Amino acid sequence: MKVLVITGSAHKNGTSAHLAEKFIDGATESRHEVYRFDAAFKNVRPCIGCDKCQNGGSCAFQDDMGELNPKLLEADVVVFVSPIYYYDINAQIKTVIDRFYANDAKLHGSKKAAIMLTMADASEESAEGALGSFKGMTKYLGWEPVGSVVATNSWTLEMLQKTDFPRQAYELGKSL
Ligand SMILES: Cc1cc2nc3c(=O)[nH]c(=O)nc-3n(C[C@H](O)[C@H](O)[C@H](O)COP(=O)(O)O)c2cc1C
Repeated sequence: MKVLVITGSAHKNGTSAHLAEKFIDGATESRHEVYRFDAAFKNVRPCIGCDKCQNGGSCAFQDDMGELNPKLLEADVVVFVSPIYYYDINAQIKTVIDRFYANDAKLHGSKKAAIMLTMADASEESAEGALGSFKGMTKYLGWEPVGSVVATNSWTLEMLQKTDFPRQAYELGKSL
């Protein structure tokens, strides 16, 4: 399967990057084709809702979504990986998701999706906003949720590495 991993963090060696790497290790071991898009290191403008894309035109912005869109359209599985920022996914990854709008009609269909989140708090409650958005979006797009990793107690990479979450990310990738 073609697997698209979209990350949000600007920490190249941070917690969510580590989960992404473990997930990719598992998916690659199961011979899936993985493409990774690190939103924090790309030039992606926020959607302004001008509706040009909905009225026969293309998106008002020509930026790195041009790289992502073909990968997004062809992906069988889309995986979102983000740190929790104020009880939600971070702005970099949300900016990319909002730009899905330009291909909204084409994106409805039979994809699978997963989400992996890292956070400082000990309670999964802090991820409810992000998990709620994921649930709503996948339902709207008709995508099948195939798993989630919610890495609590993971303020830093050292903390994450003491948990079972990296193994869970690996197993999720392998199980696709
Ligand atoms: C702006 C900001 C907001 C944050 N908000 C939360 C939060 O609401 N809940 C939480 O548990 N951790 C919060 N954190 C901590 C991060 O989620 C945590 O450190 C995470 O491991 C960072 O992931 P990264 O290394 O992949 O960037 C926040 C961190 C930052 C920088």
